[in-house]
Amino acid sequence: MRKYLMAGNWKMNLVPSEAKKFAEDLVKSIKDLDKDVEVMICPSFVCLPAVKEAIKGSIIKLGAQNMNENEKGAFTGEISADMLLDIGVEYVLLGHSERRHIYKETDQLINKKVKYALAKGLKPVLCIGELLEEREAGKTDEVNRRQLVEGLKDVSANDMANVVIAYEPVWAIGTGKVATPEIAEETQANCRKVLSDLYGQTIANNVTIQYGGSVTDTSVDGLMSQKNIDGALVGGASLKLDAFTRIAKFNKV
Ligand code: PGA
Repeated sequence: MRKYLMAGNWKMNLVPSEAKKFAEDLVKSIKDLDKDVEVMICPSFVCLPAVKEAIKGSIIKLGAQNMNENEKGAFTGEISADMLLDIGVEYVLLGHSERRHIYKETDQLINKKVKYALAKGLKPVLCIGELLEEREAGKTDEVNRRQLVEGLKDVSANDMANVVIAYEPVWAIGTGKVATPEIAEETQANCRKVLSDLYGQTIANNVTIQYGGSVTDTSVDGLMSQKNIDGALVGGASLKLDAFTRIAKFNKV
């Protein structure tokens, strides 16, 4: 059985004191959550220690937004897997569209990060998704297949138990244009088919595939009612306590 993973990506928002307060409030607001739902927040690096403290003893998981692919050394401004592990981080977002498009991260670099995270015992959330022009050119499945195949290159079948995929169409991120449940479902079913081609049906069936891109408290139920949508990666709405609480408490319709 796949687990549901409802995650907030806070991006470059909230200072540590604000992040700590938000996390404390979230702990209270999701206390009565369903047992098979996991909730995660991904604050900026400098907020991780304060948030870790705030969520202690709760069901909330801690994720980072990025990670360097090297062990340590002269990489000014970068953050290593060991640094994240020492704070108690469990997940790490890799290949987010803002990393791919603003910071020009390639599939090859993202693949190195995925493998390094797994080797270190961090759970990567591999983010994939097509640009608007790629969707309009009919290349959606080709782009997502490439990002999956390249991003997961040399990742073993055993390690797939610790990998989460986040399908985030770039045209839906931060734009208010959420994909319809049907479009998201069709694309994510095709992503699962790629996983099945790579690892077989049984392993593919156990991989959590999140949808991301303008998810709100009003769109979450329709999305989460789809067969191949196992969670959400939420930006904007994860910065609002009420909205994110409602997202974590989604209902299947
Ligand atoms: P959004 O961001 O919910 O603000 O569209 C999603 C993401 O970038 O993960």
